Amino acid sequence: MSPPPSRRLLVVHHTVSPATSALLSAALEGARDRAISGVEVVTRPALTAGAVDALEADGYLIAGPVNLGYLAGAVKHFFDNIYYPCLDTTRGRPYGAFLHANSDATGALRALESITTGLGWRAAQKPVVVFAATPGELDAVRELGAALAAGLMPD
Ligand SMILES: Cc1cc2nc3c(=O)[nH]c(=O)nc-3n(C[C@H](O)[C@H](O)[C@H](O)COP(=O)(O)O)c2cc1C
Repeated sequence: MSPPPSRRLLVVHHTVSPATSALLSAALEGARDRAISGVEVVTRPALTAGAVDALEADGYLIAGPVNLGYLAGAVKHFFDNIYYPCLDTTRGRPYGAFLHANSDATGALRALESITTGLGWRAAQKPVVVFAATPGELDAVRELGAALAAGLMPD
């Protein structure tokens, strides 16, 4: 019997500082936990990720800073790029996100919700907002990555 096909988690990130890099590493560590099988984790910087990446994935982890009260422009650029090419095909796919803010992520969370609602993506996990990349916040992001990947494991 052939093994079940592997599923793909696409991690789209805008990593701008040591703190955001540490958060991304934690999320990838969780997603690549040895207990999770049959899930390939593909990472793409948000400024390079395109519609083919999104179409070929089974679920998404979106990660970036909050800038000027909104999603980082790079993350918005990703969504701008993929919106129409993905609209019919990726509906219902699960996603999660973590946002790094210094003080207030309200506008970015609202934007994320509105864009993903438009795409018809399903929030498999609540977005995680981190402020200082503390050990507890790194754990939360690690758990987010693990939960998203575990949710994609083939039956
Ligand atoms: C141009 C710019 C705008 C920003 N706007 C916000 C903002 O509106 N709200 C917020 O909480 N943080 C804001 N930040 C902080 C970033 O989210 C933060 O610098 C980023 O997540 C990286 O974190 P670090 O600088 O602690 O490494 C802004 C940063 C920059 C450079």
